Amino acid sequence: MRGITIRGCGISVPDKVLTNDDLSATLDTSDAWITERTGIKERHVGGITSQMAIEAGRHAIADAGLDPSDIDVVLLATTTPDALVPATSATVQAGIGVPGGAFDLNAACSGFVYGLVAAAGLVAVGSGRVLVIGADALSRITDWDDRTMAVLVGDGAGAVVVEPVDGPGDLLSWNFGADGTLRHLLRCDHGGYLFMDGKEVFRKAVRVVVESAERAIQDAGIQASDVDLLVPHQANLRIIQAACQRLGIPEERTVMVIDRYGNTSSASIPLALDDALRSGRVSPGNHLLLTGFGGGMTWASAVLRWGR
Ligand code: UT7
Repeated sequence: MRGITIRGCGISVPDKVLTNDDLSATLDTSDAWITERTGIKERHVGGITSQMAIEAGRHAIADAGLDPSDIDVVLLATTTPDALVPATSATVQAGIGVPGGAFDLNAACSGFVYGLVAAAGLVAVGSGRVLVIGADALSRITDWDDRTMAVLVGDGAGAVVVEPVDGPGDLLSWNFGADGTLRHLLRCDHGGYLFMDGKEVFRKAVRVVVESAERAIQDAGIQASDVDLLVPHQANLRIIQAACQRLGIPEERTVMVIDRYGNTSSASIPLALDDALRSGRVSPGNHLLLTGFGGGMTWASAVLRWGR
């Protein structure tokens, strides 16, 4: 039996920062509204998916003390590929200098958790190390005159090195979900801009995140009180607070980076994970619950027992 452990983590965000006050200068909005309704204070914009993914991937490989030649597969979760063809992961593979295979995965904001679990599946059937990256440049598909979307989005990338280990490894449980009948709630047509029915997505998101997280907790054979750190998709502070309350996980045990990054889709969970690791909030043996939801709708949760 071959399981996985996470050996290194890294992130990248573009230099350009937009504060709520910057947005209030051109849109009919305010710092007070954005802060109160979303928890967002600023976001990074102007990113290019492949470039952010390359930088985050390099940082993760260096953090693991490895060389690009030690990686077998690049798995890029993204909703905003550089182009329809070629796969953006191929650009990333060449940019980092990874000798192995590469593919993209799109499960919107749940993409990173889907990617992590897919990497565990690859390892189970014999793959070596997988570089799992979540990267999105939502600023490129946002109408900056539309205040309902412009205040929410940001760009970024986060990456982890997934390494094979003998035995069951650190991934204790996972589940995926999707409901394509809800695709109209959050969408972007080719060449168009992001549209979201925010209220409806909010309602559904709380329900599916809680159900999915509860299933993952149960399948891991633990209780909610055993979760040392919740690493949720960062879409709205109020969604995270509502989920915490319903799951019975105190807010102090949750990673919140939405104030600095906004909603970065596939990148938001690895950005949060990296923040938790850098600030010393993760110790070996800790139970981490990763959970995400997004366009599709899709959702995914995973419980890890941190191994390093
Ligand atoms: O990552 C993928 C998943 N995405 C999400 O999970 C996002 C889910 N949805 C949300 O986070 C929230 O629904 C939003 C943050 C998008 C909106 O918050 P809300 O509390 O649901 O506000 P609302 O849409 O009900 O709008 C309340 C009011 C409206 O005015 P009236 O009708 O009450 O006069 C809006 O027109 O706020 C107005 N409004 C704004 N005002 C200032 C909407 N956007 C803005 C804005 N600035 N940017």
